[in-house]
Amino acid sequence: MRRQLVIGNWKMNTSIDEAINLIVDLKEGLNDESTVVCVPYTHIGVVQEIVDDRIAVGAQNLCQFDNGAYTGEISSTMLQSLGVEFVIVGHSERRAYFGETDSMVNTKVQQALKKDIIPVICCGEQLETRKEGSFLPFIENQIREALKNLSKAMVANCVIAYEPVWAIGTGETASAEQAQEVHRFIRGIIENLYDKSTADHMTIVYGGSVKAENAADLFKEEDVDGALVGGASLKANDFLSIIKAL
Ligand code: PGA
Repeated sequence: MRRQLVIGNWKMNTSIDEAINLIVDLKEGLNDESTVVCVPYTHIGVVQEIVDDRIAVGAQNLCQFDNGAYTGEISSTMLQSLGVEFVIVGHSERRAYFGETDSMVNTKVQQALKKDIIPVICCGEQLETRKEGSFLPFIENQIREALKNLSKAMVANCVIAYEPVWAIGTGETASAEQAQEVHRFIRGIIENLYDKSTADHMTIVYGGSVKAENAADLFKEEDVDGALVGGASLKANDFLSIIKAL
């Protein structure tokens, strides 16, 4: 279902105390808006205890395997048992630092869907690929690989995040036009792979240095349905401003 969504990605930040304070401040600042916070695994249980129904809790990763001898990993079953509703899959940091491949991303998406967890599937090009001008085929390949063997019904439960790698944590945001171009393109890929209705109903959010100052411009674009926010999601006021810009 296409919806407007601002998702916080806390990455590997915050102590438990800081997490609790952040949620308390968010709850205080929210009116009837709702949001998603993807917190570190260690914080999920505590955060679940203190959120209300305006804040859904997500994870930042999951294991591609069901269960068993995979030391240090967290399965979709474990996330489901905590009541996790969303999980980020294929973030560029996981691809770059932890060797996550397109095929792993595809398996992880399927694991999440099996347990009724909404995967937030990340795609996005490096700066060189953007400069070379080959970013659209690059993104098309990432999307096709991530969605391999997914039925129409399964894809309907996915969210896609376009996060140009050159804009993540750099302070450099894609312009609203650059974001719109890629979001429109992604919707076209979904239409080709499935159909127009599936494409029209797909939630596609933008990520990469989203902040209070640029959020409203990005959200004005027809195919930008919200944001995946890293740095600015760690400060309640900044994150609230982005949510309210939607
Ligand atoms: P950023 O991170 O907002 O700090 O650029 C976005 C992300 O990596 O999801």
